[in-house]
Formats: sequence, C-alpha cells, structure tokens
Amino acid sequence: MRYFAIGFLAAAGCGLAQAPGANYDEAKVGTYHLPDPLKLQSGAPVKDAATWKVKRRPEILKLYEDTVYGRTPAPKKIEYEVTSQVKNALGGQAARKEVTIWVAGRKAPAMQLLLYLPAGKTRVPVFLGLNFGGNQTINADPGITITKSWVRPPRHSNNTKADASSRGSAASRWQVETVLAHGYGVATVYYGDIFPDRTDGIGDSIIPHFYKPGQTARSAEDWNAIGAWAYGLSRALDYLEKDPDVDAKRVAVHGHSRLGKTSLWAGAQDERFALVISNDSGEGGAALSRRNFGETVERINTVFPHWFNDNYKKYNTRVNELPVDQHMLIALIAPRPVYIASAQEDQWADPRGEFLAGQAADPVYRLLGTDGLDGKQWPGIHQPVMSRIGYHIRAGKHDVTEYDWEQFIKFADKHMRAK
Ligand code: GCU
Repeated sequence: MRYFAIGFLAAAGCGLAQAPGANYDEAKVGTYHLPDPLKLQSGAPVKDAATWKVKRRPEILKLYEDTVYGRTPAPKKIEYEVTSQVKNALGGQAARKEVTIWVAGRKAPAMQLLLYLPAGKTRVPVFLGLNFGGNQTINADPGITITKSWVRPPRHSNNTKADASSRGSAASRWQVETVLAHGYGVATVYYGDIFPDRTDGIGDSIIPHFYKPGQTARSAEDWNAIGAWAYGLSRALDYLEKDPDVDAKRVAVHGHSRLGKTSLWAGAQDERFALVISNDSGEGGAALSRRNFGETVERINTVFPHWFNDNYKKYNTRVNELPVDQHMLIALIAPRPVYIASAQEDQWADPRGEFLAGQAADPVYRLLGTDGLDGKQWPGIHQPVMSRIGYHIRAGKHDVTEYDWEQFIKFADKHMRAK
C-alpha cells in the first residue's frame, strides 16, 4: 500500500513525492511525556483492577472517541443471508461459506463475508480481518465471489471494478492454507464494502445510514473511515456468534497497516474479540504519536483526512497536548492478548515506537494480573516475544509475510487455543 500512499499524495496535489521532512534520526526524536494510563483524569492513581475497569477504561475509551477515531453509534442489529456454502473447497481442505451481512438495514451497503473452516471441524477458533482488494484477493480459489464494490484502480488503469486477474493477488498476506492446517478458520470482509477508502468515500459508506433525521453531515466528534471499518468487524463477529461452526469466544481480529489501526480500535472497543493483532499499523495504530519518527499526526490527517475524526486534526501541530497516546489504545485491550508486529524496513511505521507503546501498556496488563510485555529491551530481528503483549520485528518491508503468520499462529496457540 505504500506505493498507493505516494501516488495518493501526488494525486492530492501536495507536490510531495515522498515524505520530505519526516524524521528518521533517533537523535532527533526529542523528549516527550506520555499520559499515565493508570492515573484518572482527576489525578487519582488507579490502584486496582476494579478502578481500571469501572473508571479508567471508560475514561480512556471516551477520550479516543472524542479526539481520535470518533464516536461509534449504538450498533444496529444485523440481518444476514448465507449465499453459498460448499464442504470441499481448497482441494477438500476446507468448508467455504459466503454470507451477505446488512449492518444498517437493507438500504445501507451490505458486507460480503468469506469464511473458511477446516474440513469436518466445528466450533473452531477464527482469524478475522478486513482485506484491501476484495475477498477474491486472499486466495486463488475460483469459487470466491469477486467483489462488486468500488476498488482502487490498479496502476495504469481506470478500472474500479475488480476482475478475475485479482484472484489470489494478496494470497501471501493471508496464508489461508497454513492457517487452516493449524485448526483455525479464516474470515474476511472487503473494507470497501463498509467505507470506500477515498477522501470522498463517506457518501457511499455506511455512515450516512446512522444519521439522525435531518442530519446531513458528521460532527467533529463523529466516526470516520477507521471507525466504520471497526464497526464492520464487530458486525462480522455478530454473525460469527450465530454460526454454530465457529467458536465466537475465540476470534482473533487482525489487520495490516491502516487495517491494523482498525483491528486495534475494533479490539479496544469490542471486548468480545479474544485476541488482537496489529501488523505494521504505525501512526494512529500501535506507534506512539508523540515520538517524532516516520509518519506524524499532521501528515496522516492531511493525506488521509477521512480516516480519523475532525477533532484529531486539532492536534496536528500540538501532539503533546493529545489526552491519549497509543499505549493507551493497547491498554484498552488488556487483559486480552495483543500482538504487535513490525518490519525493519518499514521505518515510516516507526517499529521502535510500536514496541515502546506495547511496553508503556505493560503496567495495565500487570495490574490486571498478566505477564504484560516480557523483557525490557527492544528485541532484535526475528526474536518474537510471546507474553500477553506479544511483539516481533522481522526483516523486510511493509507487508504481511509467512513469517508474520507463523508468529500469529504461535501466539494464538498459546493464548487463545486452550478453552
Ligand atoms: C500509508 C499511510 C500509513 C498506512 C499505510 C497503509 O503509508 O501513511 O499510515 O498504514 O498507508 O495502510 O498501507
């Protein structure tokens, strides 16, 4: 997606080919002071799990709603229809279902969920994540319905309708066969079904379907694309709860990059998610905002004004005044397991800042009786940490790779497998 971001910049007429001015020098990060997740806004310390749960967690959640991702409306009841079902997909390895889910009534855009389950198994744990290009991109399986939603045209093309050439184009990022072989199901939805990822995408998104009578626009607190995508993940979980082949108490929500920001926000809000994975989520995801390294709040809000709420833009040049930083997003997931994956060549996402956020969330995990993030030092390349807050940095670029999935599976085996 990095290419896309650069292209997007040029298209947005910013006149910036890359990200001039972005800091990649650790010596120039500057000093910053993180808000204390274990101190109430009144100044009183949070000394026990009950105070965290009843007072501090709701406080932080509200701060995120008001100033970062926006307020999510009360959920509407889903309607759904299983549109296809086969028992012998992927050469007999899996059952495959496709489900249409209406998340805000029949007049609003519907999401198409694709679900693979290891053949012959029921009540399986599932990895659920949104995808970037349509369900047909996650595997070359010719039985997957090609998305009919708007897609970003491939380079040198104006075609906003996906075609058969996109089948399996993101297969390496999903590793479907490997995940199934380890006894997990795979569930996915195309993010563009929920909010087309364009600055003008809101009109075709689910958001207007939540407007009150007479309302024509969002307020500064309201949700935006990331909020809507996270909402979609929760509604996909509503469906999984109704599917007897799935153990909805063991659903891991995962996402890469902007969708890693989304999986964190979904996991923070919706405590039904048993485990949360962020892959290269960077700014507005797992990386600390106050660290001036790689992408900044100002930059993300300028290039992607449709991702966060409008209040967030007020902090473009006042990051130190934000009432939260991203360690608090991770803390909202506590005590559930969370895994943060970074890539060495993805400096834009600030791998070190992602680790430090996990580390700064550790006291909350410990207060709640878990081992938090094991180890004081930022681990070296390919030295995954599998404590309740998990972390790795691997060699290579901004991507989801086989190595990443090996770690996600190990982490899930350890923290989600046991009943
Ligand atoms: C851009 C953006 C990142 C985002 C990434 C992606 O690079 O600046 O914040 O994570 O796109 O979603 O691929």
